Amino acid sequence: MSEPMKHLLKLGDLTTEQIMSILNLADQLKYEYKHGIAHPILAGKTLGMIFQKASTRTRVSFETGMYQLGGHALFLSSRDLQIGRGEPVQDTARVLSRYLDGIMIRTFAQQEVEDLAKYGSIPIINGLTDYAHPCQVLADLMTIRERKGSLKGLKLCFIGDGNNMANSLIVGGIKVGMHVSIACPDAYQPDAAILAWAKESGQFAIGEDIAALVKDADVVYTDVWASMGDEGELEQRKKAFASYQVNAAVMALAKPDAMVQHCLPAHRGEEITEEVMEAHADEIFEEAENRLHAQKAVLVKLMK
Ligand code: CP
Ligand code: NVA
Repeated sequence: MSEPMKHLLKLGDLTTEQIMSILNLADQLKYEYKHGIAHPILAGKTLGMIFQKASTRTRVSFETGMYQLGGHALFLSSRDLQIGRGEPVQDTARVLSRYLDGIMIRTFAQQEVEDLAKYGSIPIINGLTDYAHPCQVLADLMTIRERKGSLKGLKLCFIGDGNNMANSLIVGGIKVGMHVSIACPDAYQPDAAILAWAKESGQFAIGEDIAALVKDADVVYTDVWASMGDEGELEQRKKAFASYQVNAAVMALAKPDAMVQHCLPAHRGEEITEEVMEAHADEIFEEAENRLHAQKAVLVKLMK
């Protein structure tokens, strides 16, 4: 049995066993859900969901997931909370810990998520920061394992911005035994500490040579060129990332049965072509669905 988890702040905090245990539970919950087997494991529990950024998938999948687990979810827009008027995170954490059984937060600074965990007394889940998107990568790993049968030894190539997704894919992918390569402009590399850790693993490559990095990939992954918060740099980024597109020519270099994954939302014609997006729609939308199942597993692990 894996060590119990207290929070999900970033994948770097989890052991390989903990990640695999979440994926196994996610598969089980998905099976039960698809077969009409109710699992009200979190009856009577409430999750608070704090959003400082927009969301479609994260909000709806967490809210629905809590309902399916017999619990309740509260949508808390930071615009309406006192946090938006400057109430410190450490006070918010201590107050909300007295009402809720868990908090999911989407915000800018990773430190804010770490502070909620430090000052609060309930499980905290990172629903995306500028640094990490652990819930997304758990769903990605679940989807890749479903389609490929196992994870160990697979090659995942991420093409694009060295952002929150790149950071979490590097950590999650390497921890489950995948080889991860990142094709990104030198000026937009992932977090330096994550890169240093990844380079030690012997399962990692990074650079600007897209063709070499995507060669024989089992999974090709991409994300937007301008993340939430980066919109002001869009024109500059469009130039920097112009050649970092997942298109038919790039896919021809990957394995013939390579999967495409995209955390969504996608910008067709920028990081991915319409053609590749539609050819791989099944696995991309399965990935979106798996947010629900993977997060239910996280909620059960943390709040049961
Ligand atoms: N992938 C993802 O987190 O989507 P949302 O921004 O819609 O939540
Ligand atoms: N990198 C993107 C991911 C969105 C799910 C962003 O942060 O906006």
